[in-house]
Amino acid sequence: MSEFSKEEIIDILSDDSRNEWLFSLADKTRKEYVGDEIHLRGLIEFSNICRCQCKYCGLQSINKSIDRYRISPDDIVLYAKKAVDMGYKTVVLQSGEDEYYSKDIMSDIIKRIKSFDVAVTLSIGERSYEDYEAFKIAGADRYLLRIETTDKELYKQMHPNMSFENRIRCLKDLKVLGYEVGTGCLVGLPNQTIESLADDILFFKEIDADMVGIGPFIAHPETPLKDASNGSFILALKVMALTRILLKNINIPATTAMETLNPNGRIIALQSGANVVMPNVTTTEYRAKYEIYPNKICINEDPSQCRGCIEGKIKSIGRTISKEKGFRKH
Ligand code: SAM
Ligand code: FES
Repeated sequence: MSEFSKEEIIDILSDDSRNEWLFSLADKTRKEYVGDEIHLRGLIEFSNICRCQCKYCGLQSINKSIDRYRISPDDIVLYAKKAVDMGYKTVVLQSGEDEYYSKDIMSDIIKRIKSFDVAVTLSIGERSYEDYEAFKIAGADRYLLRIETTDKELYKQMHPNMSFENRIRCLKDLKVLGYEVGTGCLVGLPNQTIESLADDILFFKEIDADMVGIGPFIAHPETPLKDASNGSFILALKVMALTRILLKNINIPATTAMETLNPNGRIIALQSGANVVMPNVTTTEYRAKYEIYPNKICINEDPSQCRGCIEGKIKSIGRTISKEKGFRKH
């Protein structure tokens, strides 16, 4: 029983009495379709400069209290090399929407990193078809761009000067260009309904997402949503578990936001459908400054501490770390 209707999804999300059943079915589906291996992706948060004003995000351009930084292309390549030397098979390049990293600068960074025989994932926001095409030609393998919410009215409220249609255009362009496409949503945004979360899950299925990242919303004190309540860890976990049950063979990260709300959040997620972890591989000088939301984990740890910590946790639950690049298993 894994082709849930929208009504069934809403019922499951609204009722906590079947959570144990849900999480164990998601874990069983994960084991059957993607196995016990966990893929570690080394995350480089290379710029916190952003032209957007997403209401929930600490990096939004109107936040004047944040210390902005940009890591140089040479240093980004250096961090990637160190990640590869530590055993990472994928490097994720993430930033705010920072136009300094033009089509040519970004393509050059990607080409240089690809010479280390590693998969490259980009998470740098909305760009033109031409930019996405150039990054693909340079060697980028995957792209993460969360839809955040499929509720168009809520999307509009949360993203001044952006459009839902352009977000969809980006996701379609990325698919056409042959990227493995990652999307996902925030759980617990103000005025978000359970019905719209069910639509989010069905949207992931409809666009045949290769990766889906689900995270609880965490209120940031320097944003317009500073007085809003945080999202629920359990509800985010349920959205993630349902996504595993419906999409089966995709890659699903145990997100950092989950661990921010629950000290064992990533391990619980890995036992409820997730099969990917994205440890930070930048040094401590940047970590606190990439403050999407407060109390982010690991801001005082260095890359090798994070690697050791997560390896230990993964072994403690009897899972293994993959030595492969970890593309979607078809
Ligand atoms: N600029 C790129 C983009 O928008 O795709 C990548 C960086 S953006 C900071 C990465 C993700 O952080 C977003 O997709 C969003 O879901 C998440 N995020 C932002 N603010 C958050 C908050 N307050 N709580 C939880 N997650 C948040
Ligand atoms: Fe960073 Fe545990 S993953 S310290």
